[in-house]
Amino acid sequence: MSYSVTILNTDWRFEVSEGETVLQAALRQEIPVPWGCGGGVCGVCMGQIVSGEMVYPDGEPLALFEEDADAGKGLFCVGLPASDLVLDVPEMGADWEPWEEE
Ligand code: FES
Repeated sequence: MSYSVTILNTDWRFEVSEGETVLQAALRQEIPVPWGCGGGVCGVCMGQIVSGEMVYPDGEPLALFEEDADAGKGLFCVGLPASDLVLDVPEMGADWEPWEEE
């Protein structure tokens, strides 16, 4: 069973295969999602789960504090989709251009 992931306010849409984390699937398909440790520790990959459900087979990740989880945030490096997902990753939005030269 695979699920589709859509990144809000972008044209990015990709499939996540069975047993794959959202980050693994994104990187496999060359989707430029932000990430750091890849192990649920740094919090760099955190984004908002706008719709759908994500699960953590290895338990709640260290970098996901209760208030973040309660606010609907998720860590995509260790999260597996349990449904189709719509995610908000502000760094991938059209208005976010950190590398723009002056
Ligand atoms: S990449 Fe570090 S917590 Fe996800």
